[in-house]
Amino acid sequence: MRDLKLVSLNGSPRAPSRTETLVQALGAAIVAKTGARWRHLRLTDIAPHVMPALMRDALGPVGEAIIANIEEADIVLIGTPVYRASFTGALKHVFDLVHYDALRGRIAVLAATGGNRHHGLVTEHQLRPLLSFFGTFTVPTTVYAEVADFNEYAIASSVIYDRITQVAAEVGRLAGSPTARPHPTELFEEALP
Ligand SMILES: Cc1cc2nc3c(=O)[nH]c(=O)nc-3n(C[C@H](O)[C@H](O)[C@H](O)COP(=O)(O)O)c2cc1C
Repeated sequence: MRDLKLVSLNGSPRAPSRTETLVQALGAAIVAKTGARWRHLRLTDIAPHVMPALMRDALGPVGEAIIANIEEADIVLIGTPVYRASFTGALKHVFDLVHYDALRGRIAVLAATGGNRHHGLVTEHQLRPLLSFFGTFTVPTTVYAEVADFNEYAIASSVIYDRITQVAAEVGRLAGSPTARPHPTELFEEALP
């Protein structure tokens, strides 16, 4: 497989963070599947460099390097807590600084955590349209974990682990993993009249 760069971003303004746990688990599974080089960004670390800049040209050198890092990713992994039924405003600000054409054709992975199950479609209705704007190939499976899926800050749900495994497999297929399942052409042919 070609040399891939994974950049993950946790959009939680808090630490410790359940979203951090989820993004770390997803990142590790993607690396295990693809062998990608991994750079992880936390909003809590990058905020002083990116939040004061209202526009790209107002970024300092560190902030510019952070946004450039996101733009150079082959695989972008985004995790956010649900805030007011959406991703965090701070996460959106980071993506407002990313060039609109920089992520076209890249692979995107979406994850979120929330207080309860009622906002479980936030990855579909909020995050996926944002990444569609950027023209990414966003993997079909997303991961949403509610507080009840955690024991403190550790994942305590086999369903969540199953979805993480599924996401990593989908990334592997999109990235051209040698373990990807070949298209079952013969099955289609058998089904023809
Ligand atoms: C300002 C604020 C707004 C929130 N809004 C929602 C919400 O609309 N829906 C929801 O399910 N949880 C909501 N939550 C709960 C968080 O999404 C949840 O606790 C999340 O797992 C926190 O992630 P973190 O530990 O990574 O910061 C909100 C929490 C905060 C602090």
